[in-house]
Amino acid sequence: MSDSVTLPRPDDWHLHLRDGAMLEAVLPHTARHFARAIVMPNLVPPVVTGAQAAAYRERILAALPEGMAFEPLMTLYLTEATDPDDVAAAHASGLVKAVKLYPAGATTNSASGVKDFDRVRGVLERMAEIGLPLCTHGEVVDASVDIFDREAVFIDRVLDPIRRATPGLRVVMEHITTANAVDYARAQGDDLGATITTHHLIINRNHILAGGIRPHYYCLPVAKREEHRLALRAAATSGEARFFLGTDSAPHTDANKLLPCGCAGCFTAPNTMAILAQVFDEEGALDRLEAFASRNGPAFYRLPVNTEPMTLSRGAPYAAPAQVDTADGAVTVFDPGFPLTWRVD
Ligand code: DOR
Ligand code: ZN
Repeated sequence: MSDSVTLPRPDDWHLHLRDGAMLEAVLPHTARHFARAIVMPNLVPPVVTGAQAAAYRERILAALPEGMAFEPLMTLYLTEATDPDDVAAAHASGLVKAVKLYPAGATTNSASGVKDFDRVRGVLERMAEIGLPLCTHGEVVDASVDIFDREAVFIDRVLDPIRRATPGLRVVMEHITTANAVDYARAQGDDLGATITTHHLIINRNHILAGGIRPHYYCLPVAKREEHRLALRAAATSGEARFFLGTDSAPHTDANKLLPCGCAGCFTAPNTMAILAQVFDEEGALDRLEAFASRNGPAFYRLPVNTEPMTLSRGAPYAAPAQVDTADGAVTVFDPGFPLTWRVD
């Protein structure tokens, strides 16, 4: 068993940075370890146009502490009113790396998302032409569908029909949580990628609900049965090119998590790399952490792999910070439920 691993500096292919005081507090935790991140556009109001993405990018760079290097990769929030020409211009200028599809009502700040998928057909066709990836929040919002089935039903009812109707469209299935998604992804060509979060490699639905309700483990898509977690672990540690890291680190203040109707999201940015090293170590796959965290994502997004190295090593157990303070209140850091033994050097 190796006690250290060195890889090219990783990237996070799905991240929530928020805005204002929250952005300032959480950004350093990502920038410390990650060179780049695909930044989610679900602000209030959402980042819909190229001009809004450019302004948000400037706010992110302004919040970056002196001496830290980090490249935000911007996304646009797809609405039924999105202008294909604006999307194409934002892509051509190099500003925007993906467009995000939220089914309306599926998750945090998704009210402006898509209700009628036929109404975004023109944008999707344009994206297929120019090679701009579509990132999907893969859950149906149909109230009659059980929340634990919403991802699998989305694949059949929405994702597969969209891909069939739009040949050449490059799609990322974001934060997959089921063996169904793993199987679907494996059966497709290289125009389909899938991100996997850190927390879905660690928790199943028992962690949220058995022995008391644990709001800090509640996220969307919600964690599923153990068999699904095991399928995700096998996929992430397989080294297969279609699977890559997207943490979906999604900070909410404790005040907003610990409510009768609390927000969805796990804040994993501070200790994601330490947790992943432990997971890959346990699976005998430390040599494949590089593919998952540093190589497969850039290959899908047609970007260069980072050249700067990162080394992680195993040592005495240590306690990660339990909370990050923000001007809006404390944000609880994801607790993997075991002592961390890996750390970024
Ligand atoms: O858990 C989640 N939190 N899932 C999402 O899809 C959105 C995110 C957020 O923005 O808080
Ligand atoms: Zn997300």
